[in-house]
Amino acid sequence: MASETGKSREGFATTLGVLTATLGSAVGLGNIWKFPSMAGSNGGAAFMFIYVIATFLVGLPVMISEHVIGRTARANAITSLRKLAPKQIWWLIGVAGVISAFLIMAFYTEVAAWVFAYIPSAISGALNSTDPAVTSQAFSNLIGSPWKSLIWQWVVLAWVAAIILAGVSRGIEAMTKRLLPILFCILIIINIRSLTLAGAGEGLAFLFKPNWSSITWPIVLSAVGLAFFKLSVGMGTMITYGSYYKEDQNIPLNALRVMGSDLLVSILAGMAIFPTVFTYGFQPDAGPSLLFITMPAVFSSLPGGPIVQNLFMVLFFLLAGVAATGAMLSLFEVPVAYLVERLDWSRRKATLITAVALAVVGSTAALSSSTLADFKLLDRTMFDLFDFMSSNVLLPLGGLAITVFVGWRWGLPAVTKGLTNDGKLNNLPVVKAFFFVAKFVTPILVAVVLLNGLGIIKFG
Ligand code: PHE
Repeated sequence: MASETGKSREGFATTLGVLTATLGSAVGLGNIWKFPSMAGSNGGAAFMFIYVIATFLVGLPVMISEHVIGRTARANAITSLRKLAPKQIWWLIGVAGVISAFLIMAFYTEVAAWVFAYIPSAISGALNSTDPAVTSQAFSNLIGSPWKSLIWQWVVLAWVAAIILAGVSRGIEAMTKRLLPILFCILIIINIRSLTLAGAGEGLAFLFKPNWSSITWPIVLSAVGLAFFKLSVGMGTMITYGSYYKEDQNIPLNALRVMGSDLLVSILAGMAIFPTVFTYGFQPDAGPSLLFITMPAVFSSLPGGPIVQNLFMVLFFLLAGVAATGAMLSLFEVPVAYLVERLDWSRRKATLITAVALAVVGSTAALSSSTLADFKLLDRTMFDLFDFMSSNVLLPLGGLAITVFVGWRWGLPAVTKGLTNDGKLNNLPVVKAFFFVAKFVTPILVAVVLLNGLGIIKFG
């Protein structure tokens, strides 16, 4: 069992496993639920453009920073920062990260719960209707029922906990290696269908032809927040995963691959959704319910009869379920790694206690459309509050702090040592470019967007 005192620690066993686990964390409901619904309600291409820039200038540098911190310190997020900056308060970034992991898991497990619940419904044909009023009723029946919401959330938690229990290599790594190819296959099948529909051109134009008039500072902040959320950065997930990386791993290259593939999945998800939405005359701006109300009606409009329609619907929600799993594994692992190393708990005990704690916190998000629908803080239900606070406040703040740590506290010599694998890799120009961006560009960009997006200062 691992511990702070440096007893042997489990890690990812293969280079491929490092890539699939990290990509499995990045790819998730962010690509299939958040990105399409946010792009759909915020003007399509213009939103996507800002998101892509944020991914390069913010998401990627923070990811590289987290990986090198984790792999150098070889510990959970909190302990890693305590080791690298003893007697200073940088470890508080790790504490904020554990809080973020809980907030995200609270609403994420509920969206995953809807996805899981939709799979049997889609198989049975219960979601087959071209009338959004009917599919909307089906969705309301699910989210409006306290017990259904809670029980499906527990199913999701049990599924993720079971994989976490199997361990870092035999659980997380093995599972993401199996799931990711399935995810890409399903995505490609659905793309072939959607891109050969009559309205594909209109859908693609929506996704790729920007209309800037819809962009405001809060929307820019949401796009930057999405870049954090998408790459699972700003909260220590990637510190934790970096701590499981092999010594010979090329961190910048791996991060670039993860970022590129993750972007590809988002774009493919957009290309699966918008052409179909436009072909059948639906609106792209339904927001978070796009996936659960609009998409079943869209799939029910496909040619070929109910069997073909339901098949695509099942495939689509399986895709979302698969994607959600890898992401939830990484969120779950943040507190588990901490509890195992800090309190010397067994992995089993840490997993069970984390699952119970998540069920308790998560229940407030699960009940946000039923029992707790009227309970609001900052004008938001718990579900929306957790979502807003994590993506639009905590992750950007965490990312800001992490790049400031790397650029201004840890410094170039240590970063170079970490990213060149102690001089073994021949990537000095890449390291220097990264360091410049992480030291100056990312923190300034995030600070400006954060202050404007939250309305603290007004800049144009
Ligand atoms: N990146 C995941 C997604 O897109 C969500 C996530 C955020 C996972 C933060 C871990 C940490 O769905």
